[in-house]
Amino acid sequence: MKCVKDCPSSAIEIATGVIADSCIHCGHCVAICPESTISPDSGEIRALKPLTVEPSDFQNLTAGLRSIRYYLKREVPEEHIQMLIENMRHYSSASNARPLRITVVRTPEKIQLLNDLTADTLLKTLSLVTSPIIRPVLSLVAPSINLAGLTKYKESFIRKRLTNSSMVCHHAPLAMLFHGPVSKFDMSEADAYIWATHTTLLAKTLGLGSCFIGFIVKAMERNKTLKKEMGIPINHKVYAALVLGYPKVNYKSETSRSKPGLDFV
Ligand SMILES: Cc1cc2nc3c(=O)[nH]c(=O)nc-3n(C[C@H](O)[C@H](O)[C@H](O)COP(=O)(O)O)c2cc1C
Repeated sequence: MKCVKDCPSSAIEIATGVIADSCIHCGHCVAICPESTISPDSGEIRALKPLTVEPSDFQNLTAGLRSIRYYLKREVPEEHIQMLIENMRHYSSASNARPLRITVVRTPEKIQLLNDLTADTLLKTLSLVTSPIIRPVLSLVAPSINLAGLTKYKESFIRKRLTNSSMVCHHAPLAMLFHGPVSKFDMSEADAYIWATHTTLLAKTLGLGSCFIGFIVKAMERNKTLKKEMGIPINHKVYAALVLGYPKVNYKSETSRSKPGLDFV
């Protein structure tokens, strides 16, 4: 009866052996059964190894996980890319809906295009909202927008565009786009950030550095050509983007990033 008790959608009827349509295919019944009597949707049942990760190991892994903006000119082996994708089977998804598709951008030409189209799109948007005509209107209708901050961003974008041809992708050899169909009540964005975060951790154990790129997410919302060039279906939204590769930099020390505020209720 362990499976019956643990099933989040109360879908198991032991007497008849019927599993109802409300089943969300999370596999808890398969994972919990001491007798392995329930067949998984796919693959074999494999016993979990005892956990050997100490809390201090995890603390050390996360303390050393930094956003990498300098990468070696070295390709990420195919088997490592496959491992990062394969392991996504284990990451949670709201209602186990698993709506995400991953696009791996891995040719230098496509990475450059992703970089350039993202930079152009954001520069256009920043130039528009900080223009002498739009600026006064925006400060009236949306006073919470930090126009001074956006102007600084724009200036830095223009400056970096002159000196650095990879201000978005940081010369990384690989980018991963986490996307899925747009729907009003989905939780795809949360799924995407959970999956991407786990990916940065596994990548780190493979010696790979990574960086979340919010700029790509924002630009994808504004530029259909960019989506098309990256092969993203028209009805999909890019919810998260990562760049990955072997880091050129090495962080030796742990630094104190601030803790969140804390309340007990
Ligand atoms: C959602 C999200 C979006 C981000 N977008 C960018 C980005 O577009 N470009 C970039 O260089 N860094 C980006 N970062 C990295 C942050 O700037 C970085 O996490 C922060 O500076 C702290 O550095 P650390 O990750 O090394 O602790 C992003 C991080 C997150 C979580």
